[in-house]
Amino acid sequence: MYRNNADPWEFASSPYEQRRYETILHALKGRKYRHAFEPGCSVGVLTHQLAALCGRVDAMDISPTAVNLAQIRCHECPNVYITSGSLVHPIPGGSFDLVIFCEIGYYFEEPTLRDILQALVAQIEPEGTFLASHWLGSSPDHVLSGDRVHEIIADVSGLHHIQSARYADFRLDSWSRE
Ligand SMILES: C[S@@+](CC[C@H](N)C(=O)[O-])C[C@H]1O[C@@H](n2cnc3c(N)ncnc32)[C@H](O)[C@@H]1O
Repeated sequence: MYRNNADPWEFASSPYEQRRYETILHALKGRKYRHAFEPGCSVGVLTHQLAALCGRVDAMDISPTAVNLAQIRCHECPNVYITSGSLVHPIPGGSFDLVIFCEIGYYFEEPTLRDILQALVAQIEPEGTFLASHWLGSSPDHVLSGDRVHEIIADVSGLHHIQSARYADFRLDSWSRE
């Protein structure tokens, strides 16, 4: 998809995506974070905005083309590190006080998603934030619905639910690490 169109979901220009990013940043309530992790960062539009809130942002995406574009977008942010790889493989080392899990959960089979979430939660510091947001529509490349992804996250031990918001086309939930 990225080879045919540099921004296939129009993350940099679509009003829906801008509104979704504003909602995500608003949900973080202006808190400053030490170390964020954003898997599935795509072309880095949200990554660039997270750079202002976080001491360090580690972001990754399975598409090297998207990673290249994200690196270009964030080249003036020395605190942003973007790598190419699959979330199914080991997660970057260290501990995080913020994980942004947006529009990526529906690409995995349920058992794989549960394993990924357990590994992610194990790397979140106590009282760190896990924020998820997913589109509520359906797409042929989605294995799970956005609602199912959030149900599975809610089932993972070690997280305390703190906020939930549902809009016409996406939902957002956040949890605090116990
Ligand atoms: C719909 S985009 C979401 C982008 C961004 N998270 C957002 O909310 O705007 C999904 C991204 O997940 C990436 N992706 C899909 N499977 C992945 C995997 N196994 N590991 C890492 N990234 C993956 C895709 O390449 C794509 O860039």
